[in-house]
Amino acid sequence: MDLGLSGKSVIVTGGGSNIGRSIVLGFAAEGAHLTVGDIDVEQAERVGEAARGSGAASVEIVPTDVTQMEQVQKLVGAAVNNHGTVDVLVNNVGWDQLMFFTQTDPEFWQKVIQINYMGVLNCTKSVLDVMIENQHGAIVSISSDAARQGEPREAVYGGIKAAINSFMKTIARENGRFGIRCNAVCPGITIPEQDEEVGSTSMWVDKDSMFTEEQLVKVANNMPLRKVGRPRDVANAVLFLASDAVAGHVTGQVLSVSGGYSMVG
Ligand SMILES: NC(=O)c1ccc[n+]([C@@H]2O[C@H](COP(=O)([O-])OP(=O)(O)OC[C@H]3O[C@@H](n4cnc5c(N)ncnc54)[C@H](O)[C@@H]3O)[C@@H](O)[C@H]2O)c1
Repeated sequence: MDLGLSGKSVIVTGGGSNIGRSIVLGFAAEGAHLTVGDIDVEQAERVGEAARGSGAASVEIVPTDVTQMEQVQKLVGAAVNNHGTVDVLVNNVGWDQLMFFTQTDPEFWQKVIQINYMGVLNCTKSVLDVMIENQHGAIVSISSDAARQGEPREAVYGGIKAAINSFMKTIARENGRFGIRCNAVCPGITIPEQDEEVGSTSMWVDKDSMFTEEQLVKVANNMPLRKVGRPRDVANAVLFLASDAVAGHVTGQVLSVSGGYSMVG
């Protein structure tokens, strides 16, 4: 099926690692122009090389901390300068450390809020200015099933991801008239297949501190599909939602990609 993404100008944040890496490679295989913002430039460059080798029309890595508006504007400016527009933004950056709420403090809450929420606000505002002018665009934000389930050890993160779901619905309502579609994807636990798929700033750099192998087996057994997710599972949903050809009438939706972990009617 032709997703019609060939030659499109696509920005992916956090494209250096795990899910973001797979999203970059997915758009590359569709022949898109990629502008990738990440704080881990070395790892993002590695992914950029792989993307160039697997069909991307072009790839530019722009060192970007999404919590900093000036850096985000440079990221968006790079896409516009090179390709004249931004057709797709994927807000993929996210960060957490698994702890019970009682173990956390205001400094930690601020970090979770800044990276997970302010990053999405900065990137969304910056591309909307371009997309509204061009009367066209698709925004996909990577949220989490933690927003839908109330996941232990992810209290602040889950609350912020719920905020992202709500934010994306409002942005969808406000900007549909400009031909802009906005949706969110909620992964469940999504594990890198190989160590080289994660960078030094990834949440998964010390995988055992997140989940031991024994815990992963238990998690998988609790899923209706009896398996944990892989990055490509999430990337496929992002490609669908980014494509006007197949999802041109889909906006304001929150799609779980989690082996049935959450089921929302
Ligand atoms: N992996 C999972 O199990 C899972 C589950 C639910 C939701 N998610 C969400 O999916 C998204 C991707 O998760 P992942 O597992 O691939 O994460 P990851 O930690 O492996 O990768 C995150 C990437 O974002 C970059 N990054 C971090 N902070 C940044 C900042 N301030 N500015 C720019 N780049 C920054 C990192 O360098 C890294 O390349 C996140 O939004 C996460 O919350 C992941």
